[in-house]
Amino acid sequence: MKVLVLNGPNLGRLDLRDSSVYGKLDFAGLKLFIETQGAALGFLADVRQSDSEVDIISWLHEAAEAKIPVIINPAAFTHYSYAIRDAAEMLTSPLIEVHISNPLRREEFRHTSVISGIASGTIAGFGPDSYRLALIALKEMQK
Ligand code: DQA
Repeated sequence: MKVLVLNGPNLGRLDLRDSSVYGKLDFAGLKLFIETQGAALGFLADVRQSDSEVDIISWLHEAAEAKIPVIINPAAFTHYSYAIRDAAEMLTSPLIEVHISNPLRREEFRHTSVISGIASGTIAGFGPDSYRLALIALKEMQK
């Protein structure tokens, strides 16, 4: 079973961000971790990252057409992109929102997610393990 794992802006530079928040793993390491954890659960994880809202929207359209489940870390787009929300709302397969950090423990502007309201669920605050937990949740949903 294929799953699209979409990552928003600045996550491609994960190892250069505040390591007390995001840890030390770079994006290539995160991608490998997700692919490996996905494979162990029987998923083919197609892990992508873009700093562009346009790319993320077109990948959501692709997932909607192919009826593929999506795990998304929209990064800063989480907090204000109605365009990503509208695209994600067209999915008929599960959508799981993930965050490496726990945005509710951080600055006030991060306390709003415009994505959570249309997601099957949200997993935040467990570092890269947030993605593994999302894959497990997805597996459970498929039963
Ligand atoms: C993030 C949290 C967002 O607030 C932030 O803008 C990010 C990463 C996370 O994974 O913790 O870029 O989505």
